[in-house]
Amino acid sequence: HRLWVIVPAAGIGSRMQADRPKQYLPLGQGYVADYTLSLLHQALPDSQILVPLHHQDQWWPTLDCATAHWLETLPGGQERAHSVRNALETLTGRAQDNDWVLVHDIARPCVSVGDIHHLIATLAQHPVGGLLAAPVADTMKRAQGDQQVTETVSRDGLWHALTPQMFRYGLLKQALNQAEASHQTITDEASAIEALGLTPRLVTGSRFNLKITHPEDLTLAEYILAARSQ
Ligand code: C5P
Repeated sequence: HRLWVIVPAAGIGSRMQADRPKQYLPLGQGYVADYTLSLLHQALPDSQILVPLHHQDQWWPTLDCATAHWLETLPGGQERAHSVRNALETLTGRAQDNDWVLVHDIARPCVSVGDIHHLIATLAQHPVGGLLAAPVADTMKRAQGDQQVTETVSRDGLWHALTPQMFRYGLLKQALNQAEASHQTITDEASAIEALGLTPRLVTGSRFNLKITHPEDLTLAEYILAARSQ
């Protein structure tokens, strides 16, 4: 089966308090997006990479890989799930139902080639698909709006959902269409698959695969990438 890659990049990431979306912030020798995209291409040199972009995006052309022949941009949507759906629509007639679709956040530049290959190898015979995930290490609290603890949640069986997430093309399309039709708010592909009554498989990944969300995450990402290149 073929493997298609979708990298939703249409977010504007207000939590970074920066003058541009977080994927266009400087990192190491380039920009966040350049690291993420070239790493994916290094891991999957034979796959086409689809990148949904915001309709007002003005930074894409400044990337090193903007004109790479293995990349294809398309219009993103209001929510992350819409951006992914648009990319799946673009694949109509090109992808088969049993093909794999691997979805990875543009804001996760520290994913490793090893983890991507581990995910793909582990899921090779899986009927549905799954995602990289890391076990929760901290004690978990639930609190009210005033930060008064109401409950300690057992961390037994709790995982951080990371990306890439990889599912069969036909199932993912059906899942995201259904989530849209039922106005279900979803922040990852797996939750749409779960809503169909299907069971994604968790594949243990590195905790270094952080999502750039807050300003201090960039400092951590610099450190992780520098340590890896030594
Ligand atoms: O904002 P957050 O970190 O949750 O975004 C996760 C990913 O989804 C990012 O790669 C972001 O660019 C993407 N996204 C998108 N379309 C949107 C919102 C977010 O492609 N409308």
